[in-house]
Amino acid sequence: MLKNIVVLCMTILAAKAQRYNEPWHKKWFPHGPGEQDSNQVISDTKNLYDAHHGIAMGVVDSSCDDGKINLHMDWFNNIENYTCFENRSYYLPQSTVHPILSVEQIPEEYSAPHKCMNESIEYNEIIPTFGTHRPLWAVYGEYTFLPKQRWLHNLEHGAVVMLYHPCANLNEIVMLKRIVKKCLYRHVITPYNLLSPIRPLALVSWGHRLEMSKVSPEVVVNFIRKHALNGPEKTHRNGQYDLMLKEQAQVISDMDDHTLCPKHTEKGIEMR
Ligand SMILES: *[C@@H]1O[C@H](CO)[C@@H](O)[C@H](O)[C@H]1NC(C)=O
Ligand SMILES: *[C@@H]1O[C@H](CO)[C@@H](O)[C@H](O)[C@H]1NC(C)=O
Ligand SMILES: *[C@@H]1O[C@H](CO)[C@@H](O)[C@H](O)[C@H]1NC(C)=O
Repeated sequence: MLKNIVVLCMTILAAKAQRYNEPWHKKWFPHGPGEQDSNQVISDTKNLYDAHHGIAMGVVDSSCDDGKINLHMDWFNNIENYTCFENRSYYLPQSTVHPILSVEQIPEEYSAPHKCMNESIEYNEIIPTFGTHRPLWAVYGEYTFLPKQRWLHNLEHGAVVMLYHPCANLNEIVMLKRIVKKCLYRHVITPYNLLSPIRPLALVSWGHRLEMSKVSPEVVVNFIRKHALNGPEKTHRNGQYDLMLKEQAQVISDMDDHTLCPKHTEKGIEMR
């Protein structure tokens, strides 16, 4: 609790400091200055920096972040991060364990900094919902493993990220994946072995996290409808980072996800 308050204060201070340094702190839309509408913007010295994040987003640059160099800063490519080595019976779904929704208050002026791959990024929360991240964000879809320093950037653009412990119940994982994939294009799915045995499933959006023991389609669909697309930067532009991407996301309603979970009816989500 105290930690949260401290983080919040620091965040507000950071946001204030930024306001004085920057004449223009709102979002550029649809594209920032010097930024092209392309998934592979080749950088030059002019467009690696922007006034908003420090380092411009989506610029592939080998001296900063090209999605290939220095990846060990975020992840050591360790198989344990996506493989179950424990007894799955510790991770069984329990109908008596209720889902927990938590909200992190993010000041409207807060603008998440970008850091190049020469600097590490740490988070205070086990499941961060906002914060500093890498300039290149992830291509939407399902991953064998995707580091949080990438998916945090997708959250900023309105994505919903599904996390599951590698030892979580396989039926629950399949059910949750199916719902998320049919609800919206802007999603990322990755295992995350820092989730607890009691709630080994989670959905994250900018400022919100839902931790679950068991999938309730109603709860999942409600979370997505309420909290998806709430990131401060409204763009459906796809990411550039696709290491270990297993399956690209499909467009569900349209590129902007105007209708979230369109197949969900009163009778429940249509599975096939
Ligand atoms: C990391 O690299 C960026 C871009 O090359 C540079 O601006 C920054 O100062 C470097 N940071 C450190 C700590 O060396
Ligand atoms: C990978 O798993 C180890 C062991 O549980 C953990 O300490 C580490 O934080 C995990 N790394 C990532 C990137 O999740
Ligand atoms: C897993 O744990 C359960 C319950 O504690 C036990 O019955 C089962 O034998 C264990 N399985 C393995 C492979 O250790």
